Amino acid sequence: MGLIENLRSTVRFQELTLDPVARRLDRVANIEDLRRIAKRRLPGGVFDYIDGGAEDERALARSVEAFNEFDFRPRILRDVSQVDTSVDLFGRSLPVPLVLSPTGFTRIADSQGELAVAQAAARAGLPYSLSTLGTRSIEEVAAVSDGRLWFQVYVWKDRGLVREMVERAADSGYEAICITVDLATLGKRERDVRRGFTLPPKIGPGTIIDGLVHPGWTADFVRADPILFANVSSRADGSDGSADGTEAVALAQFTEEQLDPSLSWDDVEWFRSIWDGPILIKGVQDVDDARIASDLSIDAIALSNHGGRQLDSSPAPFDLIPRVREAIGDDMALLCDGGIRRGADVVKAVAMGATAAMTGRAYLYGLGAGGERGVDKALDILAAEVRRAMILIGATTTDELNPNCLQPAP
Ligand SMILES: Cc1cc2nc3c(=O)[nH]c(=O)nc-3n(C[C@H](O)[C@H](O)[C@H](O)COP(=O)(O)O)c2cc1C
Repeated sequence: MGLIENLRSTVRFQELTLDPVARRLDRVANIEDLRRIAKRRLPGGVFDYIDGGAEDERALARSVEAFNEFDFRPRILRDVSQVDTSVDLFGRSLPVPLVLSPTGFTRIADSQGELAVAQAAARAGLPYSLSTLGTRSIEEVAAVSDGRLWFQVYVWKDRGLVREMVERAADSGYEAICITVDLATLGKRERDVRRGFTLPPKIGPGTIIDGLVHPGWTADFVRADPILFANVSSRADGSDGSADGTEAVALAQFTEEQLDPSLSWDDVEWFRSIWDGPILIKGVQDVDDARIASDLSIDAIALSNHGGRQLDSSPAPFDLIPRVREAIGDDMALLCDGGIRRGADVVKAVAMGATAAMTGRAYLYGLGAGGERGVDKALDILAAEVRRAMILIGATTTDELNPNCLQPAP
């Protein structure tokens, strides 16, 4: 046989993929790959808004690192031919212990924004939390998703507006509300300060140059409808002095003007009177507060430092799990939000005592890398990694995950 025939019989040439998104995503192995592609595709200011944290970014780094301080204790020969990765949350089954965290202004990563994320989440069977600062409205998201939707509440000074939004979520069939309590003032995100970053991004000379270097993002941004704070723009007449996203504003100024720093435990009780479904408090960062929360008529606690974007030197959510679980008992749902970059992190969170984990950046990197299909990719990767980790540690159900599955890494 000649050399060419020989080669032909052994080498299979890959089919050429013409679809640029598919081509981009084909070789993605993990969340870090999606992050790298997002970094290449998005203008620097947009990527840094997503990727960055507060001040020295210690809380951000710690929240990711905390998972690496534990190794698994893999057990062998346990018949892992059938593995069930599901958990129960609010009386319903989740295929993997994962929830998509709320992220404001999602449309700057991709013009479909929250619609893309909500649809990908529904396909994966996972709950998606829409932010108060979402750039698609409560109703728009409900119209495209037949999945589980949560509405994340920032408590505006104008409680009438808050009640209105919560009622709209109820009317649109949202399952739960998630009250974020760690934004009494905006954390100092120094990458945004240096970039002079505003929402939406201001079109200045820097943006134009950045746009030329990132043509895919720029074409999408310029062609799409203007980005609005879709849930608060009902007051866009300025009657409450609010911005709606049509004018470029610095996030710090916006939150100082709108969010209520006088928020207290009494307000949490008020939510019980206006919302019948599950209530989640997101942003618990201390055992004593977890105990207070567990005495109220709420349904779940999310341990969270806002992805390291608020108080730097705040504890890593993962580190808090065992003490908080002990303090609140076994019955209340406990979510670990922040630092998830691998399915193994999700498994470790559940082993430590969380009901499920929440993730923000992982899906935003996917969205920046490849739009809706990029979010599918991120969720597929995490779900497959959860399954693989469970098989390799010898756990066939999530009930078998407990602190004995872990040991401190030397
Ligand atoms: C770009 C971005 C925007 C965010 N916006 C919100 C928001 O509007 N409301 C909220 O409660 N949390 C918000 N968060 C925090 C996330 O809900 C979540 O706590 C955080 O992303 C978890 O950390 P991770 O990104 O490491 O998964 C945001 C996070 C990012 C990265």
